[in-house]
Amino acid sequence: IQRIGVLTSGGDAPGMNAALRAVVRKGIYHGLKVNGISRGYEGLIHGEIQEMSIGSVADIVLRGGTMLKTARSAEMMTPEGQQKALDQLHKHQIDALVVIGGDGSFRGAQTLAKGIQIVGIPGTIDNDIPGTDLTIGFDTATNTVIDAVSKIRDTATSHERTFIVEVMGRDCGNIALQAGIACGAETILVPEIPFDLDEICDKLKRGHQRGKNHSIIIISEGAGSAYKIGEELRSRSGFETRITILGHLQRGGNPSALDAVIAAAMGGKAVEIILANETNRMTAYVNQEVISRPLEAAYGERPPFNRELYDLANQLSI
Ligand code: F6P
Repeated sequence: IQRIGVLTSGGDAPGMNAALRAVVRKGIYHGLKVNGISRGYEGLIHGEIQEMSIGSVADIVLRGGTMLKTARSAEMMTPEGQQKALDQLHKHQIDALVVIGGDGSFRGAQTLAKGIQIVGIPGTIDNDIPGTDLTIGFDTATNTVIDAVSKIRDTATSHERTFIVEVMGRDCGNIALQAGIACGAETILVPEIPFDLDEICDKLKRGHQRGKNHSIIIISEGAGSAYKIGEELRSRSGFETRITILGHLQRGGNPSALDAVIAAAMGGKAVEIILANETNRMTAYVNQEVISRPLEAAYGERPPFNRELYDLANQLSI
């Protein structure tokens, strides 16, 4: 192995830069050449590839986003796109590729595995990748939600309103659950668990009877439309509702300590995997340790939704 490539792909996540820095610097430390590929698979297909130096990743460790830029590539889903990507890797004499992204990005990597060594680093705010307890960016995004909700709670209290706050996560309720329990949301709605709007109304009314006139409902985007649910609750309960969609602010910001540390450890581990001549592997955070696993672990079943924590959140907000 002489030269490795690294790219970030899919939705960006705080900590991606820290992982990138670790791949570049640890690679160089071990005598490898490291090429950075811009704009994910889009950039790879179109040959946007540059050699990185120690200095090219200076001052990015705590910066949100990804300095390599990222994209969701439709072309990489096609056999022609995959062949173009492989041709570019060969043209630039890249022997191994590190892909920092979500499971879609890993699937893209796997199509290249016939011609090159592949390692995936799980980076997405959603924390929806099987095989790892945490993905890079999840902790930061959850903290961002907690910060936003605590501000929303101030105005909800002043105006005695019910707020429906929609958070990201695609079809995974982990951000909603963790943020919801951390900031004491009265109700948490997630795609994994069916809910009954009448029960939610009853809860709002019970709160009202004991003098509590504001409420925070956190809804994960995969559980339904915050607007529809807000309107339903307003018409069924008569309480004044407001909707806040937190949106892409959840994807920005400096990584938390946890994300920055995991990202660095995963970047370092990815280079070790390559140096050990292993391929089709992913880095994973399991039992508070960063380890190497077969890439297929990312396509297994997601660990069951944390029902115990969800039930506890409900018990704490009767
Ligand atoms: O996967 C990360 C994520 O932020 C999801 O939570 C969200 O559903 C999606 O990406 C949004 O994607 P885009 O930025 O392409 O609109």
